Amino acid sequence: MTVPLVCVFAWSRHGSTSEIAQSIAADLAAMGVQVEQPSEAPSDPTRYDLLVLGSAVYSNQWLPAATCYLRCQAAALATTRVAVFSSGLGAPSRFLPGGWGHRLQTGIQQSFEHRYFYGHLDREVLSLRERLMMDILGTPDGDRRDWTSINQWALMLADQVRLARGRTSLDH
Ligand SMILES: Cc1cc2nc3c(=O)[nH]c(=O)nc-3n(C[C@H](O)[C@H](O)[C@H](O)COP(=O)(O)O)c2cc1C
Repeated sequence: MTVPLVCVFAWSRHGSTSEIAQSIAADLAAMGVQVEQPSEAPSDPTRYDLLVLGSAVYSNQWLPAATCYLRCQAAALATTRVAVFSSGLGAPSRFLPGGWGHRLQTGIQQSFEHRYFYGHLDREVLSLRERLMMDILGTPDGDRRDWTSINQWALMLADQVRLARGRTSLDH
């Protein structure tokens, strides 16, 4: 049986969403899945058995480059198994993938498997403008990433993609 090929990519401004992507990639690899983590979003998503995409949430939405990718690659993504995650500190918004606000705002109609994970705020790495914004909003620093939930989601994705592809050499 061939080993499924998965691509994990995330758009991140200060690195914490990339760390979530790295953790997901490591879990998938540990489950016997072949994982690619390109430095840029893949130009040919159809190469993969599964594409895992994530973005940090700013202004209640995905980063512009992330939304742009979903829009530009809409045709290819429609024929690819895609799972997406968002990482932010507020309540999950309707302007994230899957929400009606997202469909309305972006014109993207495809529904994806979507998970929301709480993120990480560290004033040390923020720009002055961002720090001021967080001060005004009264948002405290802290790492709220739930590694257990992230890990569980990755294991579920690994199971799904392995089932879809047929069992790999890790099975007995
Ligand atoms: C200026 C600024 C604006 C933010 N706006 C939102 C927001 O609108 N909604 C939300 O859920 N989180 C918001 N956050 C929290 C970030 O999404 C969170 O810190 C995330 O983990 C950052 O990911 P990154 O390190 O990958 O950039 C904001 C953070 C900053 C610094």
